[in-house]
Amino acid sequence: MSLSVNQEIERLRAEIERHNHLYFVINQPEFSDAEYDALFQKLRDLEAQHPELVTVDSPTQRVGSQPSAAFASIEHSVPMLSFGNAFDASDLRDFDRRVRTLLNTEDIVYVAEPKLDGLAVELVYRKGRFVSGATRGDGRMGEDVTANLRTLRSVPLRLRDPDGFTPELLEVRGEVFIEKESFAELNRERRDDGLASFANPRNLAAGTLRQLDARVTASRPLSIYFYDVGLIEGMTIESQQHLLNTLPEFGLRVNPLFRVCESIDAVIAFYEKVQAERQALAYEADGIVVKVDSFAARGLLGTVSRSPRWAIAGKFPASQGMTKLNDIIVSVGRTGALTPVAVLEPVRIHGVEISSATLHNEDEILRKDIRIGDSVIVERAGDVIPKIVRPMPELRTGDERAFVMPTTCPACSSEAVRMEAESAYRCLNTSCPARFKQSVLHFISKGALDIEGMGPQLITQLVDRGIVNSLADLFTLDRDTLIGLDRFGPKSADNLLAALDSAKHTTLARFLFSLGIPGVGAHLAKVLAQATEEGSKRLQDRLDVVPDLLAHKSAEGSKRLRASLDLLAQTSEEEMASIHEIGPLSAHAIAAFFASDQNRQMLLDLLRAGLALEPPREGPSQDRARTALAARRFVFTGSLSSMTRSEAGERVESLGGIVASSVSKNIDYVVLGDNPGSKADKARELGVPLLYESEFLEMLESYE
Ligand code: IVH
Repeated sequence: MSLSVNQEIERLRAEIERHNHLYFVINQPEFSDAEYDALFQKLRDLEAQHPELVTVDSPTQRVGSQPSAAFASIEHSVPMLSFGNAFDASDLRDFDRRVRTLLNTEDIVYVAEPKLDGLAVELVYRKGRFVSGATRGDGRMGEDVTANLRTLRSVPLRLRDPDGFTPELLEVRGEVFIEKESFAELNRERRDDGLASFANPRNLAAGTLRQLDARVTASRPLSIYFYDVGLIEGMTIESQQHLLNTLPEFGLRVNPLFRVCESIDAVIAFYEKVQAERQALAYEADGIVVKVDSFAARGLLGTVSRSPRWAIAGKFPASQGMTKLNDIIVSVGRTGALTPVAVLEPVRIHGVEISSATLHNEDEILRKDIRIGDSVIVERAGDVIPKIVRPMPELRTGDERAFVMPTTCPACSSEAVRMEAESAYRCLNTSCPARFKQSVLHFISKGALDIEGMGPQLITQLVDRGIVNSLADLFTLDRDTLIGLDRFGPKSADNLLAALDSAKHTTLARFLFSLGIPGVGAHLAKVLAQATEEGSKRLQDRLDVVPDLLAHKSAEGSKRLRASLDLLAQTSEEEMASIHEIGPLSAHAIAAFFASDQNRQMLLDLLRAGLALEPPREGPSQDRARTALAARRFVFTGSLSSMTRSEAGERVESLGGIVASSVSKNIDYVVLGDNPGSKADKARELGVPLLYESEFLEMLESYE
């Protein structure tokens, strides 16, 4: 007997929610996207035919409803409290002492969790159904963001019912946040679309959740972790551990990173661990939170002035510091861009001494009204170059000076020109020594020819003394010249000469990257190299080698490099732009680069100096390489040290592999970066092979 339409709709809803849970909550999808979409479409069709059967908790209603004029207020039945703060280990010990004294016992168990830097919310489930959700607001009253919360697919619209049980009422609390990677990606998209970027993930999460138009919320990848409860009826929870174990049974996501601590020493160890590893976490954490595990003990401890005595936040030290701006100097980049750089009175932030910071451009200095001599707030975010947040005008003495952008290049004194539609001034002199030094630095850098033993000081000496006037000159250096330089011994000279010699044999991708063509980063260089190598094979056989290299052992590699460069020089801007991934701006820059006589001479000099392509690898041919990982599925966890995740993904895909986001039986490899997350455990559980980063690299390199 066939199901009634209503039953069929209900079945589809339950099935879709089950897949949402598998995918968004426990990271164990069973369905491909296509299968999921098909199921979803079926439900959508049935609901379109029977609009009277549409309910608010149908998964089709997650897409976001019409904009509302303003948010209504919702009163929390139990106030949402805030934490008191501890700023170091000794503050945490004070907290522990207070707790033990108040409870008059030595046996205290704490649960420590990362302090998520998002937006706190409370969701109300009645008889297992999601009925409303609100922001924390002032702790007593929050804003009704039910429609927005419904768009998060990790928020179950109906609780899963372990053993057929659902509580009468469950008010559950958690943090809405956005992962750092999603944040970066969204900002990249916005920049590409000419929109202003968001300042930080917290602002983005808060702004997204408080969108009046839930369709906007639906379009952004918000996440949620649950960590607390308000009122509960029909069930008792006895401790934080009990809570963190129970919520997942109802389909509510909890952060897998937490620690049960039997002593304050264990809490402090966790505080230090999370602080040390916070950069590698997928989300922003600004500290840890420490909670007394037992709910009964919490009741005894109580609350004073909005902060519970049973919990505390251990904040991480601020990544900002105050110092003095001693001067602003102007540095010249490879492309001739003049960048103002702040010279700071050295200041320690997060244990690192900061003595300079970029000021980007003149407009930025004017906009922030930064003056030489100002006291300034400096910020260090992760490993990025420190920046000046703002000056402190209230501390001015009257001796501060405004900065004036020079009208000539500080290195070669030629005129500096402000390009139309650009905020940067540029030195247009292609033989400017400062520009040349930067080009050499780029040429020898890791992703380029990777010449070890050469740094900025050595390059400065070589250029300033007139020993190196072109890139090719690097390969004519000899032992005596090197030993004659300041602080350069015979051993370093021999090592450098050996490094230079072996760097002559390189790949086309590295070579193209090393040239510093505007807009051609490591990835585009690879794209360009691949397209060129295919085309140049045909050209190669017809070509003569540069005559004086005929006898050279690398004649073959030299011929291949020559063929590739000739092909590039013959390729028009339009043809460049037709290569997948090469946009019109890059196509223009590449074509202009190869059209320049000066550059052609430079390339010829490099060929004469012995630059050559490495012989093609033994093993799979180019064509086979592209399918070497055919349909192999990879999942990444933790942060990779040699490349970004998106680069790793691109490399896997260029070999025909597939990158998936969650671990299941169907995954072939899980690649472990630093601080791998729960995906690693999952892989071990399912017996999916784990690859360390080094093994992954070896695998890629053996095919590329
Ligand atoms: S439990 C006092 N657990 O902290 C109990 N809160 O200052 C509060 N927060 O607005 C709730 N991570 O946004 C709890 N693991 C965590 C948390 C956490 C971040 C935030 C929450 C709240 C603020 C209270």
